[in-house]
Amino acid sequence: MATVPPKPRAAYVCNACGAAQPKWSGQCADCGAWNSVEEATRPPPSQHRAAGRGGFAGAAQSEIQSLADLKPEERVRTGTGIGELDRVLGGGLVIGSVVLLGGDPGIGKSTLLLQACESLGAQHPVLYVSGEESPQQIGLRARRLGVTGAGIRLLAETCVERVLALAEREGPRVIVVDSIQTLYTDLLPSAPGSVSQVRETAAQLVRFAKRADTAVFLVGHVTKEGALAGPRVLEHMVDTVLYFEGEAGGPFRMVRAIKNRFGAVNELGVFAMGDRGLREVRNPSAIFLSRHDQPVPGSVVMVTREGTRPLLVEVQALVDESPLANPRRVALGLDQNRLAMLLAVLHRHGGIGMFNQDVFVNVVGGVRISETAADLPLVLAVLSSYRDRPLPLELMAFGEIGLSGEVRPVPNGPDRLREAAKHGIRRAIVPAGNVPKEGVEGLEILAVKTLAAAIEGV
Ligand code: TYD
Ligand code: MG
Repeated sequence: MATVPPKPRAAYVCNACGAAQPKWSGQCADCGAWNSVEEATRPPPSQHRAAGRGGFAGAAQSEIQSLADLKPEERVRTGTGIGELDRVLGGGLVIGSVVLLGGDPGIGKSTLLLQACESLGAQHPVLYVSGEESPQQIGLRARRLGVTGAGIRLLAETCVERVLALAEREGPRVIVVDSIQTLYTDLLPSAPGSVSQVRETAAQLVRFAKRADTAVFLVGHVTKEGALAGPRVLEHMVDTVLYFEGEAGGPFRMVRAIKNRFGAVNELGVFAMGDRGLREVRNPSAIFLSRHDQPVPGSVVMVTREGTRPLLVEVQALVDESPLANPRRVALGLDQNRLAMLLAVLHRHGGIGMFNQDVFVNVVGGVRISETAADLPLVLAVLSSYRDRPLPLELMAFGEIGLSGEVRPVPNGPDRLREAAKHGIRRAIVPAGNVPKEGVEGLEILAVKTLAAAIEGV
C-alpha cells in the first residue's frame, strides 16, 4: 500500500510585522495592518529550525565553555574610508558582522555602500551582489562616483543558494547584498520580498557571515509605513541596524545606528548628497539651523546629543487658531504623544491652555529627535509662537519636563553647553542639575527647576 505524502502545511504571516497567524484574515491581529496577511508554506522542519535564527545557530557543534577562560579576541576594525559611516558602525566595520542598512527607496543606500566599497576593496576582497541593477548600471554609477573598483567583484544574482555557493568559491571578506528584498531561496515557494523569504535568505547570509568570518551588508527598503519591508523581523538577526533619515528633497542625509553590538546606538552620521555621490559632513552642528537674520516667533535652538556627538538643531512651532472641533497636534521629527503631554503640562503648571489652537512642531532639516531633552525647547517654541513673541537668536534651551511641571536634567549637560557656546550661543535656559559649578565661558546660563521658572525667564 502506497503511503500518501504529507501535505505541505500552510501558515499565514503578516508582511508588516512578521507575526504568524493560524488563518487568513483581512487585518493582522498583532499589529493591526490591513491586507498584510499572506499565505506562506512552512519550510520542511529540519531547515525551519535553523531558519529565522541569527547568531551562531547552525555553526559547528558547540561545547560548554567557562567564561573566565575565554580569551577575548581583539576585533580588528576595517575603515570604510568614510568617517561618518565608520562613526555609526562604532569605529569601522567588524569583519564577521552583519549590518542592515535600511531606508526609503532612492535615499542613497546603494550610493553609500558603493563608495564604501572603494576603500574596503583596497583592503579586502569585496563581493557586490545586486538583484536590482545590472553590472553595467553599477559600472556607470561607479564611474560617476569616482570609484575605481579595484578589489570589487560584481554579481547580478537573486538566488541566495547560488550567491553563497559563489561566495564560498571566491572567498570575499566583505559582501554587499543590494537588496535583501530581491533575494529568494529555493526552499520556499513564496515571492521574493515576502516576510518568509526575507527572513530565510537573511538567516542563510547571517550563518555564512559567522561561519566564513565575512562582513555582510544587507540593504533593506523601507515601505511607506516606515517598517523595513517585510520586516523589522531582520533587526534581531543582525549585529548592526542603520537607517537613513532625512528629507527626500533636501541635500542632507543622516544615517542612524538603531542597534549596534559593536558600538553606541543612536549615533548619527551626516552626509550631503551631491552630483558625485555622498560627501561626509564632518562638523554637522549648525547646518540644521536656519539662520534667521531677525528673531522669529516659534523658533528655538537646542543641543541634542544622541550617540556620542552634540548637535545644534532648531525646533520650530506654529500655533494658530483652529477651525476644527478637535484642534490638530502635528509633530514632525518629534514624538506626537509627547507633544500632547507637554501641552497638558503647560496648561496645568503654566496656566496656558491651547484648546482652540492647532499646534504644529517641526525639527529643521528632517532630523528626528527621540530624547526627552527636546521637551523644554519644544514648550518654549510653542509658547513663543502662541504669544507671537520671538526669542533672542543667541538663546538655546534643553531639558526634560515631568508631569508635575519640574524640569529634569538630561545626560551630558556640560558637553551640550560647551558645544552651544562654540557656535555663538550666548544665553541658555537649562535644568539646574545640568549646570557645571564653574559655569561655561561666554554663556549666560539660566538654571531652572520648574517649567514656571523657565516661562518666566523668557
Ligand atoms: P541610490 O543610492 O540609488 O538609492 P537607494 O539605493 O537607496 O535606492 O540613490 C539614488 C539617488 O541619489 C537618486 O535619486 C539620484 C541621487 N544621486 C545623486 O544625487 N548623486 C549621485 O552621485 C548619485 C550616484 C545619486
Ligand atoms: Mg539601490
